[in-house]
Amino acid sequence: MRVRVLRLRLFRPLACLALTGAALFDARCAGCHGAGGEGAAADALVGGRGSLATPKPVQTVGSYWPYATTLFDYIRRTMPYDAPQSLGPDETYTLSAYILSRNGLLPDDAVLDAGTLAGVRMPNRDGFTADARPDVPAAGR
Ligand code: HEC
Repeated sequence: MRVRVLRLRLFRPLACLALTGAALFDARCAGCHGAGGEGAAADALVGGRGSLATPKPVQTVGSYWPYATTLFDYIRRTMPYDAPQSLGPDETYTLSAYILSRNGLLPDDAVLDAGTLAGVRMPNRDGFTADARPDVPAAGR
C-alpha cells in the first residue's frame, strides 16, 4: 500500500507534463502546422537537420533557428495565428519544450522555464555569418 502511494506521487506529474505538450499542440497548433509539427498549411516546425547546405534547404525551428529563446518569444507574441497572445507563459514553455523535443534537442519529458530555456544549444547557432558589405554596420558597433 505504501509503495503504491509513492508511485502515484512520483510518476503522475511527469506523465501529465509529457502529455500536456502533445495535447496542447494538437489542440492549438496542429490544425495549421500538421500533426507533431511536421507541416501542413503552415510551415513545418520540426525536421530539416542537415538540409541547409543542400539544393532544397528545409528551414525549421530545429534546423535553422539559432536561439531557443526566440521560440518562446515568437509563440508568446504571435501564435496561435488565429488567436495571438491567448497562451499563458506556462503553456508557451510547454509548447516550446514540445517543439524542441520533437526536434531531438530535448528529452520528451523535459520541462523548460526561464532558467533552462536559454541553456538549450541550437544546432545552427554558429551557422550565421557576419554581413561583409561595408555599408552594413557590424553587430555591437
Ligand atoms: C491558423 C493557423 C495557425 C495556427 C493555429 C498556428 N500557427 Fe504557427 N504559424 C502560422 C503561419 C501562417 C506562420 C507563418 C507566419 C509568418 O511567416 O508571418 C506560422 C509560424 C509559426 C512559427 C515560425 C516558423 C518559422 O520557421 O518561421 C512557429 C514557431 C509557430 N508558428 C508556432 C506555432 C504554435 C506553437 C502554435 C500553437 C500554439 C501555432 N503556431 C499555431 C499559422 C498558424
